[in-house]
Amino acid sequence: MVTGASGGLGTATALELHRQGARLVLTARRKELLDQLAATTGAEVVVADLASHDDVAMLCERAKEMDVLVLNAGTGADGDVTTLTPEVVDFVIDVNLRSPIVMTSAFAQHKVATGEEAQVVLIGSLSGLVATPNTQMYNATKFGLRGFALAARQDLEHTRVGITLLAPGFIRDAGMFAENDVTLPSGVRTKAPQDVANGVVKAIRTNPAEVYVSPAELRLAATLGTVAPGISERIQKRMDTKKMSGS
Ligand SMILES: NC(=O)c1ccc[n+]([C@@H]2O[C@H](COP(=O)([O-])OP(=O)(O)OC[C@H]3O[C@@H](n4cnc5c(N)ncnc54)[C@H](OP(=O)(O)O)[C@@H]3O)[C@@H](O)[C@H]2O)c1
Repeated sequence: MVTGASGGLGTATALELHRQGARLVLTARRKELLDQLAATTGAEVVVADLASHDDVAMLCERAKEMDVLVLNAGTGADGDVTTLTPEVVDFVIDVNLRSPIVMTSAFAQHKVATGEEAQVVLIGSLSGLVATPNTQMYNATKFGLRGFALAARQDLEHTRVGITLLAPGFIRDAGMFAENDVTLPSGVRTKAPQDVANGVVKAIRTNPAEVYVSPAELRLAATLGTVAPGISERIQKRMDTKKMSGS
């Protein structure tokens, strides 16, 4: 099952999993896009809104039949913290954090009980390592998702259920960053949607703790953000990252 399959990285991932021989269940809200993808992959389509707790419960039931969950759906619609409303807080937490946590834990409980082998790939972001201006809810949820993934993975150590956090950097050509028309500072490199899809395949095959889909220098800069956030803030001010919106 791939969530967010109607979006840039979810679609690329679904196509690659199809090429690798997977039978797919694709989910998102935009049925037309899922139907188009299903026409080329033979996938089953399940329309669901991850902000609806009932829809998430329905997906948890459906997920019991799966071997692999790729929990990729995400929303990046933040603004300045002074404009944040409780509705936006709830929406971003529901989509980016609550739904993958609820689905992963229900899936893991079922697979541990049946003894089946299974894998969860959670799509995080370098925004789970480093904070940037105007992305406070995105940062909050991606930091949280990374914490959940790395802890839950350890809980499952002696089971046949694996969890991998896959963290993309800036992805060109398709997806929320490409569609935002953001100009990166010179020298900052990007990766392609296919790189993310390949990373998901690697995660499913080898169950690493994390897969980074970003150039080494960007991962290094993001890591600096975790160990020295004050320095990262000063560097970002010099680079004027306020003009960019993160993904
Ligand atoms: N693109 C990048 O550069 C980049 C970098 C780092 C991390 N990421 C992460 O990669 C993942 C995929 O991003 P993307 O770039 O492919 O974004 P995207 O093109 O905006 O696609 C987002 C996907 O999430 C789904 N989604 C959003 N809200 C939903 C809701 N309420 N219920 C169900 N589905 C919902 C969308 O489907 P519907 O609108 O049809 O519901 C869509 O399929 C996200 O988790 C994102 O944070 C992306």
